[in-house]
Amino acid sequence: MKKVRATLDRVLSKAGIASRTTTRAWIVQGRVKVNGRIIRNPDHWVESAKDVVHLDGLRVREEKKIYIVLNKPTGVVTSFGDNKDRPTVYDYLKQLERWVFPVGRLDMDTSGLLILTNDTEFGEALLQPESKVPKTYYVKVSGVLTLEEYFQLAGGLDIGRGERSGPCIVHEVRSTDKYTWFELTITEGKNRQVRRMCDAIGHPVLKLVRIRVGRLQLDDLPIGKFRILSNKEAQTARSL
Ligand code: URA
Repeated sequence: MKKVRATLDRVLSKAGIASRTTTRAWIVQGRVKVNGRIIRNPDHWVESAKDVVHLDGLRVREEKKIYIVLNKPTGVVTSFGDNKDRPTVYDYLKQLERWVFPVGRLDMDTSGLLILTNDTEFGEALLQPESKVPKTYYVKVSGVLTLEEYFQLAGGLDIGRGERSGPCIVHEVRSTDKYTWFELTITEGKNRQVRRMCDAIGHPVLKLVRIRVGRLQLDDLPIGKFRILSNKEAQTARSL
């Protein structure tokens, strides 16, 4: 058996049970035993080949990795619980019966492609700013964009709070005399970035849908439904 050493909180989170913050709390509460002894130190080292871990009396083993894509509806928050009692993405995952965490987040008013997984390394790698993974959004804004405004979006601009968006790709899809629809591909993940970019050029977002992450597409997955990805398909989310 491969010898793997990891801290107790990490062993539990990698088993796909809960996030590291939660597992650390459980350990401190005395719910976790290593080789029959309660360990309250989340940084206690564990060797997978010889140590036996129990949570609330149940044996903990490393779980198979799972990757899913959810077509997140609007009006739903990307978090586990919500203090205002709004619906969360977990309300749409009841049939999954596995613990997964969202890789990044979409605003409550944004819909579309959200990846969830129990693979912490995969999630962390995808979220690192250096990963430069392209994320494509279908955007509807009010008003008609001038050529100059397209150039402003594409070249990067001041989006307030002392931040600038970097260069990105913009493709107009269509426009009427009141609205414009376009696809915007960014490689960053600043808070409410697309909305702030559009606000900065004076065209507030009316609709925002994430349609692609890396080479992984939302395609025709119905709103509110999820689909399990093969490991190979999940890796396409990391392709540039
Ligand atoms: N940009 C936004 O403004 N909102 C999102 O949810 C994602 C990207």
